[in-house]
Amino acid sequence: MSNEKSPGAEVHDLDAGTFYEEVHSFEFWFHAVEGYLAGTEGGHRPDLVEEALDEERRQRLISALCNYCVGETAALEGSSGLIAIAPNRTTKIFLATQVADEGRHLEVFTRRLSDLGVTDPEAEVERRASPSLQLFRRHLLELVAGKDWEAALFAQNVILESLEFVVFRSHMADADPVTASVLEAVIKDERRHIGFGENELGRRLREAPHRRARLGQVRRDMDHLVLDTLAESARSLGLPRSEHEQLGRQYMESVERLGLA
Ligand SMILES: [Fe+2]
Ligand SMILES: [Fe+2]
Repeated sequence: MSNEKSPGAEVHDLDAGTFYEEVHSFEFWFHAVEGYLAGTEGGHRPDLVEEALDEERRQRLISALCNYCVGETAALEGSSGLIAIAPNRTTKIFLATQVADEGRHLEVFTRRLSDLGVTDPEAEVERRASPSLQLFRRHLLELVAGKDWEAALFAQNVILESLEFVVFRSHMADADPVTASVLEAVIKDERRHIGFGENELGRRLREAPHRRARLGQVRRDMDHLVLDTLAESARSLGLPRSEHEQLGRQYMESVERLGLA
């Protein structure tokens, strides 16, 4: 890290090189997360009182959390595998911070399942997980195993993260207070992960525009799994059709920011 930056300097005031080193560091990560994780318990503010949920709402929440656990497990396995094929120190260090985030997400969602009376979370996840999301997880891990850096990073830090981001944000809007507080902090982390993916891929596409075709192919392979997962999530959250369609549009917009229509 550069010694030239003054303590507490705003990252936006830094030159491009220092900025790049700064945001790909554990120090940046720690300062980012301590603001919203310090003092939390189970990933949420400790002063919150559990709202009584009727059985239908409780079941919906359990199904949603089971799918979140699959997504977070995919991201945990994906980001840890990506470290081995990341092209340089800064990307490896960022991914190490992401591994910590994804492990935390899996932990707090599993803890929430326990809060809701689920005694064997692994078995419950197995029973309720969306088949499309499980397939997505397998495809992502195949891209990582194939050492396909851009494709795997795109599948994980743009496609999967965008899917999680739109679903979590929509869920947070009408979740019980404890779940909403857990989701609020997770969303902040996912934003950082999407930012990293867009920055890294944007730079690599500018350096070598031919990579765009490969990412377009990955998108075509994965989009239907994402849209099926969104449909299944919308059903399990009991969302009206208009809101489900809006989620699909938000996901598309997020992925298209890289110009991969
Ligand atoms: Fe996550
Ligand atoms: Fe993430």
